[in-house]
Amino acid sequence: MNIIVTSLKGGVGKSTTSIYLSAAALERGYDPVTLIDADPQASSAEWLEIWPIEGINVVEAPSERTATRAISRAEGLVVVDTPPGNERATQAAVALADAVVIPTRAGGVEYSRVSATIELIPSATPRGVVICAARLGTNDLEAAIDWWKHQKVQVWGIIPERVGIASGPEARLSREGLSNYDTVLGRALRAKQ
Ligand SMILES: Nc1ncnc2c1ncn2[C@@H]1O[C@H](COP(=O)(O)OP(=O)(O)O)[C@@H](O)[C@H]1O
Ligand SMILES: [Mg+2]
Repeated sequence: MNIIVTSLKGGVGKSTTSIYLSAAALERGYDPVTLIDADPQASSAEWLEIWPIEGINVVEAPSERTATRAISRAEGLVVVDTPPGNERATQAAVALADAVVIPTRAGGVEYSRVSATIELIPSATPRGVVICAARLGTNDLEAAIDWWKHQKVQVWGIIPERVGIASGPEARLSREGLSNYDTVLGRALRAKQ
């Protein structure tokens, strides 16, 4: 099962989402769980180097070729973190996806980059957006949810804006974040069937 976490836009929550989805899969009992970091910035690989999680294998695959090979070879539940702004790398990764998770933010400027990302996904492959660092109860968030509904794009999760989720490798994963991302994982797994 390959879950590709991707968006052409940077700074939206791809690496955070990749880490939390891997940890949620581990908690569900998936063994092995492999996180392939296809972003040359290697932020999720670095995160798990500083704060390793037993049971999550990390593979750094910073090129299209190494990423394709790593995804094809990996067993068990595989989560792939991807670089921003690289259409070719994105397309190569999503071609191997069983489900595509697209982190995004609430707010109008996001939509065109997400639509461009969605256009790279093979039409039969399940996909859903995850609204990261969401401010619950705001009009922006409501507008974003309505927008995706109107576009007939599923919203697989809404992750609230939390210091504990943003803290990265400086602290253990947030319980609340794990629970929110478990919902996302459940939707990705169900969508595949
Ligand atoms: N739920 C959240 N609440 C608060 N900050 C978040 C949340 N999710 C992500 N962030 C922050 O947003 C920034 C971008 O996230 P990151 O996962 O690095 O995105 P990307 O991999 O797409 O560049 C980081 O500073 C991260 O800590
Ligand atoms: Mg990243």
